[in-house]
Amino acid sequence: MKTIITYGTFDLFHYGHVRLLKRLRAMGDKLIVAVSTDEFNALKGKAAFFSYAQRVEIVAACKYVDHVIAENHWQQKVTDIATHHIDIFAMGDDWQGHFDHLKQHCQVVYLARTDEISTTDIKVDLSQQQHH
Ligand code: CTP
Repeated sequence: MKTIITYGTFDLFHYGHVRLLKRLRAMGDKLIVAVSTDEFNALKGKAAFFSYAQRVEIVAACKYVDHVIAENHWQQKVTDIATHHIDIFAMGDDWQGHFDHLKQHCQVVYLARTDEISTTDIKVDLSQQQHH
């Protein structure tokens, strides 16, 4: 039994998210996704379009996802790894090297992002279309 965990906002859920979650689920038997709360995003200076509850509903509906938890703060990862018996901690490579200190607790992997799609790009594209 291999359990994988990943963290993120997953706002305006798109195919880059789907492909990441599909690849993560294929690495083991159980995929846990920690979705950033609105309060945690505010702390990071980010504001999601969909609320935390809406983003959880969407992520949980993805067939590659077995369980969703809340990401409330930066320091919870070591506890999460122990509580959920995590074998692999995984993030997109926009976080390359950032979580190497977790290697003493489990395997840490960074996966290549899907090219040319991000929530930020979607927001920019939509706002530009409105002006045409
Ligand atoms: N991700 C990915 N490929 C993309 C976009 C995101 O693999 N094209 C991954 C990220 O690397 C991260 C997870 O999906 O591990 C959640 O990313 P998130 O920041 O919520 O999505 P983004 O589209 O990157 O959103 P933003 O533009 O707000 O950063």
